[in-house]
Amino acid sequence: MISANIEDAARTAGNDDKGAVMLQLSDNDFTRLTGFLKERFGINLIKKRTLIESRLNNYLVSNGFDSYKTYLDYALSDKTGAEVSQMLNYLTTNYSYFMREWEHFKFLKEHVLPEMAQIIKNNDLRTWSAGCSTGQEPYTLAMVIGDFLSEKGLKWDAKVLATDISMKALDVARKGIYDDDALKNVPAYWKLHYFRKLPDGKWEVTEALKKEVIIRRLNLIEGGFPFKKPLHIIFCRNVMIYFNEETKKKLVEKFYRALIPGGYLFIGQSESIDRTDGKFKLMIPSVYKKVQ
Ligand SMILES: C[S@@+](CC[C@H](N)C(=O)[O-])C[C@H]1O[C@@H](n2cnc3c(N)ncnc32)[C@H](O)[C@@H]1O
Repeated sequence: MISANIEDAARTAGNDDKGAVMLQLSDNDFTRLTGFLKERFGINLIKKRTLIESRLNNYLVSNGFDSYKTYLDYALSDKTGAEVSQMLNYLTTNYSYFMREWEHFKFLKEHVLPEMAQIIKNNDLRTWSAGCSTGQEPYTLAMVIGDFLSEKGLKWDAKVLATDISMKALDVARKGIYDDDALKNVPAYWKLHYFRKLPDGKWEVTEALKKEVIIRRLNLIEGGFPFKKPLHIIFCRNVMIYFNEETKKKLVEKFYRALIPGGYLFIGQSESIDRTDGKFKLMIPSVYKKVQ
């Protein structure tokens, strides 16, 4: 780790209190950082200068960086990618909760899954939560699919792939421990079947449900997707809001290629995709079907 003189940094910032050192983010460093994030991860923080400063300042100071320039020189030249990964832990927005935009899950259970029952081969259903954050979305998917299968008496291999770029978010997803607030929309039946209450009042996803969710790190922007078989259902909700139109268009094109004909793409309810090329049909708001 870089050694740096915190007191100098404090003086530069006009503040001798070590506990409140504020590093100055110059226009140059801001442009460098936002340009890097946009190019490598699609994340557009051009209008989020204050967010960057508030999320990174303490991390930089407590790790001995005396300026954003020193930090960026270090992080962007770190071949292991570890420092950039840490940076993403601070700069990504990971807000999520169970049953978020519940209309999607209702449509999934009542329309999409029965349709898939007619299409899938070898009882193999492939669902992807792309930008899964801390796990609430893929676990909700696994519970909805689990309910559907038990109600219909079906035995499918229906594991949900869950990916994100934030390692910190993925760690939370792997642990599967949530507080009451994250479970505010979870029905009592689910709490009983898919969770166990911990002594501190939090809720942990059962081991059986954890086995239904495969958690991996994946940057949606970089290269092609590493799938051997096409997918039936993709959830990519509240992720593309951070991307510009061009990045979004390229990503939607990759989703199109990754899906089976007739496969479904769910995006966030405040998002939309360009359908002028006729590749996707809008089924209900923010739910698209790949045209055969
Ligand atoms: C607001 S959360 C959405 C979580 C969940 N899909 C939902 O709707 O509740 C957005 C997630 O997208 C992830 N993300 C942003 N850019 C990404 C990229 N290029 N590749 C993969 N994940 C990305 C962030 O790390 C964050 O966890």
